[in-house]
Amino acid sequence: MNNIDHLIWGVTTAAAQTEGAFDKDGRGLSIWDSFTKKSKNIKDRTNNQVATNFYERYKEDIDLSVEIGLKIFRFSISWSRILPNGSGVINKKGIAFYDKIIDYCLEVGIEPWVTTYHWDLPQRLQDKGGWRNREVITDYENYINVLKFYFVDRVKNWILINEAIVCIGAGYFLGIHAPGKRGVKNFSASIHHILLAQAKGYRVLKGKKEIKVGTAVSCTKIESHSNKKKDLNAAKRIDALMNRLCIEPYIGLGYPEKELPLVKRIKKYVQQGDMEEMKVDFDFWGIQTYTREVVKSAWYIPYLGSVLIKPSKRKVPVSVMGWETYPDGIQYFLERFSTYDSEKPLWLSECGMALSEKEDDTKRIEYYKKVIECMKKISDKGINLQGILLWTLVDNFEWAEGFIPKFGIISLDKITLNRKMKKTACWLKDYLSNHSV
Ligand code: NOJ
Repeated sequence: MNNIDHLIWGVTTAAAQTEGAFDKDGRGLSIWDSFTKKSKNIKDRTNNQVATNFYERYKEDIDLSVEIGLKIFRFSISWSRILPNGSGVINKKGIAFYDKIIDYCLEVGIEPWVTTYHWDLPQRLQDKGGWRNREVITDYENYINVLKFYFVDRVKNWILINEAIVCIGAGYFLGIHAPGKRGVKNFSASIHHILLAQAKGYRVLKGKKEIKVGTAVSCTKIESHSNKKKDLNAAKRIDALMNRLCIEPYIGLGYPEKELPLVKRIKKYVQQGDMEEMKVDFDFWGIQTYTREVVKSAWYIPYLGSVLIKPSKRKVPVSVMGWETYPDGIQYFLERFSTYDSEKPLWLSECGMALSEKEDDTKRIEYYKKVIECMKKISDKGINLQGILLWTLVDNFEWAEGFIPKFGIISLDKITLNRKMKKTACWLKDYLSNHSV
């Protein structure tokens, strides 16, 4: 087995899942504040108004990350904390909060990485149509300009949009995430706008060579239920939707219109010059993969003509998320991305496993051990993998699933919000003390 001690380990968190303090110090509301007001939108009827109270306890979390031996602390910025109306007046207290996080990271020797958008659009922008409205692209560019002005002197690594396909798919197509919109029309407009916004954001931020700007993409291994042509084609359609739509326009391949009929609808929103503008050479790809889906042809499903076969029916290990636990997808996607460009730096910018309250944490250790095995297997294949960011540090608000799934390597006491290292955190600390440079 090969040595992988050069890989850099870090952790990923997100504002809407951790910060809480939803109305403190001038923060404007986000679409998740509105969405969680309807308690039936969230499985355990909770909301994220307090979350893990990272707003007040950020030092503790950063200290714990350092104690475990992690070298990167990735967090996201809440747009409406910086610009309460989505655009216009800057909230200086919001700037001060992120200044404190960045400065503290640097003080204790952990690299701060910023995600500019992790799903919490300002409600004021949603009132104007949100991602469906093309004007949001200019708002995003202006927001990125503000972040650049205040933080680029200290933050060297940036992730623009986190998992565009998930936030638009769940929020504007299925309606199961904020802002709870459904349908092909909402999806088609929103996906094009968010992807174009990201390209523009890249151009705003990218300046000095030492500033690295990338994106984080959700990847799900797609397999066909059978060898029948109609199932194979169904799998190709879903693969194009999940694993190509938000990636290939940037590398000049355009939208995958041959495999995905839905692209015809998206093209209605494409204006002259957009596709050219979308060609940006990200400094790295952040790959995030958790599971695998098996697909079957289904003529009665509009646009996609496919259905997913539930993991529970496939006799595979399933997590509390209802997802097949599938660490092998990591190897698959790292190899696949390096066929786009073998030199482009890759990060596994999220990886992790959710357990229920009752499950023993050793299951998660087993998961991470498999991740390590994967890394070892690919280490001699010339793949430019830089490191791994865990999802996540402290158990937090898992969107529509509320607080039920526990992804953290640190637990959270529901009442006191005290943090406690789980077995995984102790195991990782030990691993990193022997295997990190
Ligand atoms: C992807 C998302 O980026 C993150 O917010 C989410 O909690 C995890 N995956 C787990 O679902």
